[in-house]
Amino acid sequence: MIKGEALNHVFDIGKPGQFHAIKDINITFNSGELYGILGPSGCGKSTLLYLLSGLRRPTSGKVLFDDINIGELNDKELSSFRMKNFGFIFQRHFLVNYLSALDNVLVPVDKEANKYRELAQEMLCDLGLKELMNKKPYEISGGQRQRVAIARALINRPKVIFADEPTASLDHQNAQSVMNFLSKYKKNSTVIVVTHDEAILNKDYEKIHIWDGKLKDGDE
Ligand SMILES: Nc1ncnc2c1ncn2[C@@H]1O[C@H](COP(=O)(O)OP(=O)(O)O)[C@@H](O)[C@H]1O
Ligand SMILES: [Mg+2]
Repeated sequence: MIKGEALNHVFDIGKPGQFHAIKDINITFNSGELYGILGPSGCGKSTLLYLLSGLRRPTSGKVLFDDINIGELNDKELSSFRMKNFGFIFQRHFLVNYLSALDNVLVPVDKEANKYRELAQEMLCDLGLKELMNKKPYEISGGQRQRVAIARALINRPKVIFADEPTASLDHQNAQSVMNFLSKYKKNSTVIVVTHDEAILNKDYEKIHIWDGKLKDGDE
């Protein structure tokens, strides 16, 4: 379970251009469920995802993962906590350009790469990338790169998968295959997808609407 309590985030606090992006959000995500965070561009979706996943520290409020208050971890502890428990998928893929698709998938499990190699190959096959495993990111298409990034996010079976506009740069067919794969491999993970496009979320997703930094009525 992951929980945000009285979350607030103010960018550039104390400066003339300060901006209150997340306003008193209380929210709980249960294990093994799928969630979609929806709302127009600029409403605070990405900021909320960053706060929940410990990529950004809130100005005030708490993020609890099971019973751990992640705000109490120092930067080093937080980063190893994230590596162990969370998987990230972004709109841009951030693959390592000089590594093959297969080696990119193995980056998060670096030290035990051999143990995970077969699983990585299986995932890439499942994603339709069997023939492309040894290609470098710049030798494959944008949709293929995003599928590699998804296999990388899921390789160490994270407890929570955070995806920020994972299909925004993909055509409809690639978007669908990415979302299907996410559902298939989630196992017991909680999946939290931020999107401005409700059409990519099937009926299994619980939908959470954000408006101007707040949860819309009825979502709390
Ligand atoms: N690093 C930042 N510094 C200042 N303002 C920011 C920063 N990041 C986001 N914002 C502002 O916070 C608001 C919410 O942004 P964001 O969470 O990225 O929205 P969304 O993902 O819903 O499009 C926007 O008005 C944006 O301009
Ligand atoms: Mg965003």
